[in-house]
Amino acid sequence: MRKQKPTIMSLFSKKISELQERTAKAVQGGGDKAIAKQIAMGKLPARERINKLLDPGSFYEYDLFIEHDAREFGMENKSLAGDGVVIGTGTINGKPVAIYAQDFTVAGGSLGSMHARKITKIMDYSLRMRIPLIGINDSGGARIQEGVNSLAGYGEIFFRNTLASGVIPQISVILGPCAGGAVYSPALTDYVFVVDKISKMFITGPEVIKSVLGEEIDMESLGGARVHCETTGNAHFFAESEEQCFDQIKELLSYIPAHNQEKQEPLKTKEPLKKYKIDKIVPADPTAPYDVRDVIKSITDNSEFIEIQEMWAPNIVIGYGRVGGRTVGFVANQPMVLAGVLDCDSSDKAARFIRYCDAFEIPIVTLEDMPGYLPGVDQEHAGVIRHGAKLLYAYSEATVPKVTIILRKAYGGGYIAMNSRHLRADFVFAWPTAEIAVMGPEGAANIIFRKEIMEAADPNEMRKQKVQEYKDKFANPYVAAAKGYIDTVIPPADTRKFILHALEISTNKVLKRPVKKHGVPPF
Ligand code: HXC
Repeated sequence: MRKQKPTIMSLFSKKISELQERTAKAVQGGGDKAIAKQIAMGKLPARERINKLLDPGSFYEYDLFIEHDAREFGMENKSLAGDGVVIGTGTINGKPVAIYAQDFTVAGGSLGSMHARKITKIMDYSLRMRIPLIGINDSGGARIQEGVNSLAGYGEIFFRNTLASGVIPQISVILGPCAGGAVYSPALTDYVFVVDKISKMFITGPEVIKSVLGEEIDMESLGGARVHCETTGNAHFFAESEEQCFDQIKELLSYIPAHNQEKQEPLKTKEPLKKYKIDKIVPADPTAPYDVRDVIKSITDNSEFIEIQEMWAPNIVIGYGRVGGRTVGFVANQPMVLAGVLDCDSSDKAARFIRYCDAFEIPIVTLEDMPGYLPGVDQEHAGVIRHGAKLLYAYSEATVPKVTIILRKAYGGGYIAMNSRHLRADFVFAWPTAEIAVMGPEGAANIIFRKEIMEAADPNEMRKQKVQEYKDKFANPYVAAAKGYIDTVIPPADTRKFILHALEISTNKVLKRPVKKHGVPPF
């Protein structure tokens, strides 16, 4: 009998079966046991994370069939599914993103040369296509068996992080260990998301610390999610669960442009909620605290505001809201914490945010109410001069529309630093309650009237009189208004109206700066 030739159809279905078999094997990751261990640790498998974060059914995976090329320490006979990382593209809120997720079930998500090649490929796509990059980190760090090749891989990643900085948003999600030099990719990116009990970031782990310093410390206290949100400031968003973390990422992406040339398409304007009454929030007593976030919410559309680094340096508040349908970056002193003083950390926090807004053409609104810089040896020795200078630099350098509202206190260096006219604010509006002076009335009177106070029959009475004299003269916005340092004094209830108008007429702002390769900010 003559042998029947395979038809196109039968050949095709054989090939399809082979593809299905190969795909099924590749997506198994490290296998059932490793996946069960991952889940027992409260962590989702890599592809599940991606599918939960991206719009349903939108994920396209690449390099699923990559093989590692390590030939030492028994690696030559080992197969590692996808080499421990999943890469691809998809959409969030209907907008394209590039993503990678390390798969801890495969060799602990450790980074070998092909693993790095996959990550750098998706990084190159994201930069070329001008779409946000999201990296989900869950890894034991450099793959020990691959030696310098894995170190080289990290170097290639860091280089691309730097190249993409200011062009596309880069988001790092820490969903497991992130050890050794591996933490430097997240540190180079714009937003770091962490989840309680799951995220761990450190350069040298507990074992190294014990062997070198003889100190015992557990991983959570060394570099857990809270540590990086409250103490180091390395993380920007804290979540209780992976699901909550994904919701936060989606919310953030709804505010920020996909790349630095994207023109904002305004959404429909919504009025702030009635419960935020701007003229009822700020107490008349200049020393009484209040939550400046309520002021922000009395300005933003639908009173929505996404706060960044909420738990670190809370004496300054930064984040995004919309005004007239457009995203605005808010920088606001927080009188509820340390009276809203500026210090090393709050200067760093605001300066980096201002530079981000400027790079991505997001207008900046500054709400000012602070008594100046935090005094003390600790701050001086921690470098408040250098750190404070970053804030001056960032505001001066920014060419996006910049609007300042002085609510109450604007004393000393803080008055200049918080986006004053002198650093080229486009608009400075002050409330009638504003006090613009070199320092607070008590301190000022004690210095300039020291002789009169000391020599008076009743020094306390004299001090009171002199404080009042100083207050009458300087603790108001009109001396600054008379010089044109502020544009006008506005009733608090008109704040949103003035901001809306200022932003509207700034849409085509043009500001040229001297030609230079780049400046040298006080990093
Ligand atoms: C190769 C690794 C690995 C690594 C983990 N694994 N880390 N393989 N290279 N770096 C493997 C383990 O051998 C194990 O394989 C599997 O992943 C799971 O690891 P476990 O240790 O069983 O998991 P767990 O108990 O949860 O502990 C996770 C961990 C621990 C804390 C991350 O694995 C660890 O301390 N790893 C080493 C961390 C580290 O020091 N990395 C190098 C940093 S230096 P099997 O086959 O048993 O399942 C660095 C330099 C970068 O990164 C420089 C850039 C500038």
